[in-house]
Amino acid sequence: MSSSSYFGRPSYCAMALVLLLTLLCIAFPAYLRNPVSVASCFTGADVRAAAAAQPAASASAALVADDGGRRPGQLRILLGVHTMPKKHSRRHLIRMAYALQQMAALRGAARVDVRFALCARPMPPEHGAFVALERRAYGDVLLFNCTENAEDGKTYTYFSDLPAMLGASGGEGRRPPYDYVMKVDDDTYLRLDALVETLRRAPREDMYYGVGLPFMDRVSPPFMLGMGYALSWDLVQWITASDMVRRKAKGVEDVTMGNWLNEGGKAKNRVNIFPRMYDYKSAEAKDFLEDTIGVHQPKADIRWAHTLAHFNATSGDLRPSREGSS
Ligand SMILES: *[C@@H]1O[C@H](CO)[C@@H](O)[C@H](O)[C@H]1NC(C)=O
Ligand SMILES: *[C@@H]1O[C@H](CO)[C@@H](O)[C@H](O)[C@H]1NC(C)=O
Repeated sequence: MSSSSYFGRPSYCAMALVLLLTLLCIAFPAYLRNPVSVASCFTGADVRAAAAAQPAASASAALVADDGGRRPGQLRILLGVHTMPKKHSRRHLIRMAYALQQMAALRGAARVDVRFALCARPMPPEHGAFVALERRAYGDVLLFNCTENAEDGKTYTYFSDLPAMLGASGGEGRRPPYDYVMKVDDDTYLRLDALVETLRRAPREDMYYGVGLPFMDRVSPPFMLGMGYALSWDLVQWITASDMVRRKAKGVEDVTMGNWLNEGGKAKNRVNIFPRMYDYKSAEAKDFLEDTIGVHQPKADIRWAHTLAHFNATSGDLRPSREGSS
């Protein structure tokens, strides 16, 4: 969309922004007190029924780190959102956007653990305070021993430190903690049900999933775009163990990942989801695909507002609250 048409509809844009801000201000404190009851306001009876059937201890599991659930046959996905300590409000938005998607049907099919991957350096105290509180309140922040710097090997540290961080190094024969590990940008919005549906049909091993370049190479694209890609757990273990990868840890992160796998003769199974994850174009419905897996929206928060509105994530009633309706 051109900037002229963007500014030509101020009321729509303002409305979307107000919608989002109001949701953040009104819904979130209530959400913290009782995530499932607030989630059910947005979703309906089946979720309410599922919530009623669950013990209170797991009621907040959608938002908090680990409900310990290990259902046999359930696909397990670690969704690592790469972001920086200072971006607290973005983390808040993403945390809610994914927590509200954790509906009964999704959770029956897959356990999707959303974690924020941060480098421990630099950590100025004003941001460190938020990070420390978030770790205690939600338990969804993973701090890596790295320096925030786009091409300084954060992706290498993320994948190579994960097995030890999850207590899963060695342990041959045990089921790995996750089937797939994703790296997602903090400006990408994923629709978890579409993601899970495609991953369920993907090979569990030696698998590299994302928007491949070139787009039309369905079978063996050399690399997947950094907005969001997944590796099967065996490839995470391979990255951890490989001397070649360690020597080549630095570089433009998405191309570099492809280079490791290509040089190592790995990822024989490549799943190119083009065009189902794509860059945001405009707020108009025609610019969102029906079978969207993800939308990448560099920078502006208003684009998150448009995207969340399009996918009905913010479609609650925004009339002023009355007593008893929070
Ligand atoms: C973090 O990494 C640096 C090298 O990059 C190393 O010297 C240091 O010991 C590491 N710290 C921890 C806690 O592992
Ligand atoms: C959003 O909700 C409206 C009204 O229920 C529905 O027609 C539309 O298909 C929904 N949009 C998406 C992307 O699910």
